[in-house]
Amino acid sequence: MKQKISPDKQWFVDSRIGMFIHFGLYSSIGRGEWVRSRENLTIEEYQPYFDSFNPSAFDADQWAKAAADAGMKYIILTAKHHDGFCLYDSQYTDYKITNTPFKRDLVAQYIEAARKYDLKVGLYFSLIDWYHKDFPKFDDWHHPMRGNEAYRDETIDWDNYLKFMHAQVEELVTNYGHLDIMWFDFSYGEMSSDKWEAEELMTMVRQHQPHIVIDNRLETSGEGFGSIIDNEPNSYSGDYISPEHIIPPYPIKDVNGDFVPWEVCTSINNSWGYDPTDRSYKSAKFIIRKLVECISKNGNILLNIPPDGTGRFNQQSLDILSEVGDWMELNHASIYENRPAIDLEKPEWGYYTQKDDKTIYAHIFDGPLGVLPLPGIASSQIASVTRLMDNSVVKVSDSWTALAFTDTTFVELNNSHATEALMDDIDMVLEIKLK
Ligand code: GLC
Repeated sequence: MKQKISPDKQWFVDSRIGMFIHFGLYSSIGRGEWVRSRENLTIEEYQPYFDSFNPSAFDADQWAKAAADAGMKYIILTAKHHDGFCLYDSQYTDYKITNTPFKRDLVAQYIEAARKYDLKVGLYFSLIDWYHKDFPKFDDWHHPMRGNEAYRDETIDWDNYLKFMHAQVEELVTNYGHLDIMWFDFSYGEMSSDKWEAEELMTMVRQHQPHIVIDNRLETSGEGFGSIIDNEPNSYSGDYISPEHIIPPYPIKDVNGDFVPWEVCTSINNSWGYDPTDRSYKSAKFIIRKLVECISKNGNILLNIPPDGTGRFNQQSLDILSEVGDWMELNHASIYENRPAIDLEKPEWGYYTQKDDKTIYAHIFDGPLGVLPLPGIASSQIASVTRLMDNSVVKVSDSWTALAFTDTTFVELNNSHATEALMDDIDMVLEIKLK
């Protein structure tokens, strides 16, 4: 299976799961990171949240440890979101965390903690800036002041904005040492590619951090994959595709049939930025099963955890993460470095993933009545089958009940015919070693 990513970035594909963190002034308001735009708040109306910003419970260690304990391999924080507020000490704006009562550079602390827990570290950077005077307002699709008569005839200096935006990115890629991921967000309408001077931006970033993995949103967000699927992608096409709240129905390939890496970003509930009224949390079971589905289609999951205004992950998020971690502890061999089992059809009971030529994992979501079929795998190929969680042996079946189905291999998942419950109700994993 040919993967369209350079070998020094293969770690990204192998990681399969990362944590996203949306944190900013909006976290203390509790109505999501788009609150300024959605409620058309002026800079002045938003200012109190800047003046009082002091996430007293913030502890970078808590974030990084929760990610690492849940089995996540990388972590991405909103260094700057659309409201323009910087969680780092940018020299190009006063609209930054070091000018709030919090005073410290949160990005610096976050990066240090991520490294301590051996996580690859990424930064999200908004191409959009609703605070900057030279960002379009009246005609913009999303600006809080869109359609506001006061801005109809305003002139802006777009080149000045670009200079500023590029300089802010350059600070991030030069002031914090080695970075693993840069997550640009986002493009819409004519606000994409050349409009961002994406080629120059990309060249600059790659000059400072040649190994860095970058998403595809300088060019496109959601409405297409961008030129990454072309034979000769643009220099700013990025390293992977970034679907949002959707798992692609099939692996994404480029025009030559090579597999293109992707990462679905989604949140533990329905919000990127903290919203205490959003109680629609995803269960650990749901998250793990969707992760497996992603791997079976060559994708990653980037799971957002919104800290509250004090900087804390709430208990509900922590409980879910810890349950994910318990499962990962026993079953991570079937996640990291796994890819689609491209020679095998999707089984009815769940998914296959594959680690190498000799190792296949059966992820069983739905227990069998009687023996379990392993479609596509001949019994003569099998060296061993074990339960990954405890390494116990699973017998290749010679049961009389299956004798009629000579073209299918069966295993005895349960020692009795009638057990409905799976030993692991989240995802019962079998490790199948081939000869
Ligand atoms: C969107 C939203 C944004 C969020 C991002 C995460 O593009 O604008 O608020 O940060 O998606 O993927």
